[in-house]
Amino acid sequence: MVSYQSAKEEIKRSADIVELIGEFVQLRKAGRNHVGLCPFHAEKDPSFTVTPERQTFHCFGCKKGGDIFSFWMEYHSSTFQEALRDLAERYHVTISEGFSAAAERENTAKRDALFKINEKAADYFQRALSHPVKGGTARDYLNGRSISKETISEFRLGYAPDEWDGLIGFLRHDHMGLDKAAQAGLIIPKKNGGYYDRFRCRIIFPIFDLRQKVVGFGGRVLDDSLPKYLNTPETPIFHKGEFLYGLHASLNAIRKKHRAVIVEGYMDWLALRKHGLGEVVATLGTALTAKHVRKLKGYSREAVVVFDSDEAGKAAVLKSLPIFSNEGLSARAVVLPDGHDPDSFVNENGLTPFLELLDQASAMLDFYLEQKLTPTDSDEEKVRVLKEILPVLSEIRDFTLRSLYVRRVSERAGVKEEIVWSELKRFVGNPPGKTVERNLKQGLASSGVAKRYHNDVVFLNLLIHYPHTVPRLMDCEWRILFSDPVIVEVVDTFFEKYHQEGHFPSDDLVESLDSEAARNQFREALLQPPIYSDDEVELCVDMFEERVNEIKRKASVQSAGKRGDFEGLNELLKAKIAKSLRGLGT
Ligand code: GTP
Ligand code: MN
Repeated sequence: MVSYQSAKEEIKRSADIVELIGEFVQLRKAGRNHVGLCPFHAEKDPSFTVTPERQTFHCFGCKKGGDIFSFWMEYHSSTFQEALRDLAERYHVTISEGFSAAAERENTAKRDALFKINEKAADYFQRALSHPVKGGTARDYLNGRSISKETISEFRLGYAPDEWDGLIGFLRHDHMGLDKAAQAGLIIPKKNGGYYDRFRCRIIFPIFDLRQKVVGFGGRVLDDSLPKYLNTPETPIFHKGEFLYGLHASLNAIRKKHRAVIVEGYMDWLALRKHGLGEVVATLGTALTAKHVRKLKGYSREAVVVFDSDEAGKAAVLKSLPIFSNEGLSARAVVLPDGHDPDSFVNENGLTPFLELLDQASAMLDFYLEQKLTPTDSDEEKVRVLKEILPVLSEIRDFTLRSLYVRRVSERAGVKEEIVWSELKRFVGNPPGKTVERNLKQGLASSGVAKRYHNDVVFLNLLIHYPHTVPRLMDCEWRILFSDPVIVEVVDTFFEKYHQEGHFPSDDLVESLDSEAARNQFREALLQPPIYSDDEVELCVDMFEERVNEIKRKASVQSAGKRGDFEGLNELLKAKIAKSLRGLGT
């Protein structure tokens, strides 16, 4: 046993903060630091920084920071005392209890009591399921749903028998406080004193946190009675909108596969696991929340959401779109054949067809647009869908991303981008009403073709909104891209100023342009919103470089031919053929 202070020091010496946090947040090395997306607030660009030298972390976005203990407390919503205990266990440091302030001790003791009583209850439900007589019907039910004995014991499934005081009797026998059981949501106080069991005549699914502790339960009826599912209510250790069923078991697979498959139900989760899909989690009968997504993005590059094929499922896709966008986790959606959920689908068809569906999944917005908009839709129908989409688009905070979505929507619906934009602006704050509807209709009538961007518009847009592309664009032989002298003047002046000032040229750039045409061109470019998402920007710069090379290659072939330099010509043609073969992926 060592004192609390020296235990703390010893844990810090044994722990590697990058490794520890790296289990929960995907970190990448950036100089002396490691950076990643903050698990504590919504962000799409990493401002969460871990500094191994000092064994600290800090988020420039939400300002949370500290040492490994602060991280553990914040991430697992635990007290300092629990963090110390968890980490001591993890790094094999023995500590004496009774070290912290009275208030802290009291809080930890309360939470401990809830964990303990949940553990007891899980034990009780498990025993009831394997009870030769009482558990018979429940075992038959699970068997009928293809849940194996191994699955039952691995995930500690249980049964709450048809009794009003079964759990109560069990807890009494073990001298467990019933008031604690009531706080844990396991039993409910009666009006005239006493308690009764919350879960009766239900299959029980314990819900675990990442430390493998039981935080709550879900319970399903064995027949058609209602409610079909019942969950532990909110308690100091259970928050429905935070926990994902099965994450404790799927974490490593999610990390390895770089993706998380999200389903709606306990049964879906169990069925997919049984068929060998590791990287799966289930929501607990609630809509997906930002907190869920924030957790997942710490382990995964993308999420694939599998919703039911009904209207509610499609609505859920649309609702989750801004959550994924705002958290910066890319997401795709799968729709199963009518009448199927993941459970029935894999049990009927096996895992392979399911995996194929996952691989073919479309991006969230495309999925929604594909489902909702078809070219043959009437204008009325399109307007209805657009009105549904506007509020969703308005919730996407990242401007670049929103622009991209506006473009997709406008293309798919055949409404001018400007109109979607202006309706979107109008929408912010007030729901789409009659005016929006009228404008959208006019937009549909006036033009079916969405605006396409020219080279020069794109090039200027990159310079203005994505300053990190400037050095690369400046280095490529951009002049040969443009035949219009006005553009050449604008870009030339921009680069000259950039070169002199070392950063984005000051606003007087417009005035320093010689021709009126160039001034107009640049002024207009400044008003244009960013066109691309971060990923697209790189592709776009690549494309410009590629185009420059292409033009140069063509020019060399021509001039070699004119000079009669056939050897040189042959070399160039060979290079060209090799390039197109590479392009074909051979
Ligand atoms: P099975 O019918 O057993 O296959 O369940 P399911 O998962 O297919 O059910 P469903 O698609 O109806 O619901 C999906 C999830 O929503 C469930 O796993 C529950 O978590 C939750 N859920 C469904 N019905 C209820 C309910 O009545 N109350 C609560 N609290 N949650 C429910
Ligand atoms: Mn089902």
